[in-house]
Amino acid sequence: MTQIKKISVSDLAVGMYFSGFDAPWIDNPFWRTKFLIEHAADVTRARNAGFEFCWIDTSLGRDVSVVTDTGTDEAAIAPPAPPMPENEYREELNEALRIYESAKESTQQMFKQARLGKTLDVERCQDLVEEIAASVTRNSNALLSIIRLKRADEYTYLHSIAVCTMMVALARTMGMDTIACKEAGLAGYLHDVGKAFIPLDVLNKPGKLTDQEFRIIQRHPTLGYEYLSGFAGVPDYVLDVCLHHHEKIDGSGYPGRQQGNQIDLYSRMAAVCDVYDAITSDRSYKAAWDPAESLARMASWTGHFDRPIFLTFVKTLGIYPIGSIVKLRSGRTALVIRQNHKDLTKPVVKAFTTALSIEALESEIIDLSAPDQDDVIIERSGQDWIRSNGLVLDSLKALLEGFESAPDPGQ
Ligand SMILES: [Fe+2]
Ligand SMILES: [Fe+2]
Repeated sequence: MTQIKKISVSDLAVGMYFSGFDAPWIDNPFWRTKFLIEHAADVTRARNAGFEFCWIDTSLGRDVSVVTDTGTDEAAIAPPAPPMPENEYREELNEALRIYESAKESTQQMFKQARLGKTLDVERCQDLVEEIAASVTRNSNALLSIIRLKRADEYTYLHSIAVCTMMVALARTMGMDTIACKEAGLAGYLHDVGKAFIPLDVLNKPGKLTDQEFRIIQRHPTLGYEYLSGFAGVPDYVLDVCLHHHEKIDGSGYPGRQQGNQIDLYSRMAAVCDVYDAITSDRSYKAAWDPAESLARMASWTGHFDRPIFLTFVKTLGIYPIGSIVKLRSGRTALVIRQNHKDLTKPVVKAFTTALSIEALESEIIDLSAPDQDDVIIERSGQDWIRSNGLVLDSLKALLEGFESAPDPGQ
């Protein structure tokens, strides 16, 4: 007989039968994954997912009272950084913009050099990753909002910067040390270098690819790997991610059809960051999906991602990531502009008070976690709403301008 019991995530241990996390906002099947905990790493991942309570089935695994082995003493998650004062945050936002602009130029250059078969400047790439990692460490919100600003025709190289940024942020949430965070960032930055060898008319084709064109695109991991293997000084983990970021946990990915933990850790991380950035960006053949909706959809794709890593990614970006459009209980529509890492259900939002036309929108910045704030998010609005209101780019511009003129939401 099933015996479900709610316990603190900190009491999870090897031998227990995990039956899902417990949180009021969990509304999709992914969060209800059930499995027997066989490895200490699963305990660490569950703890790093950011939930306080979970369910175990004591008829299928050990009970909390008889457990003596806690299963792990691995590195605990880094505590969230304390909130940054508003003026410092604005400075960070400007710094992130500067990093982004210079990264744009170097990355464009990097792809050009690769296309010409010239040597990769690994040191320059490392310097760039260093800057990105430093900004993410000071405050991940700044660069994570800037990387959303991309046009479809700039996608390939801006995507490299975005994946790099998300890899650093994810590695930090996973509790990795500074060196590992930069390794993850560098691997993310170079993951798609093989796209330099794909004809541009195929790469940027507006519309559906033919089977043959799809096969051409699918060669980019191998082409990138071959290119990078030609240079001394390119670390193995970069080669791995370049070759394996399109593998899927169930073995249905490419090019190696690797399964589960056969896929190296950084590639499993890159797979999540890569897909998230792809589906939340405007592409030549499709409009961007809403960030919160994208996470919900990704959560429903069984067999694609490493689930504990995906969970940690959600914790990194928030349940309603920056750029999500949400509806508030007050009836207003709002854009998420910053995470509150202490409570992912209460981000800072820009609430729109009028919606008769885009031009007439008035807005107010609200910190939903403020003690005197009684408005709450009741649902995400989804891509159809955004598309029908033409809001994506406009709201991002509003986001940046908003930081210049808006009062401190916390005061
Ligand atoms: Fe790729
Ligand atoms: Fe990619």
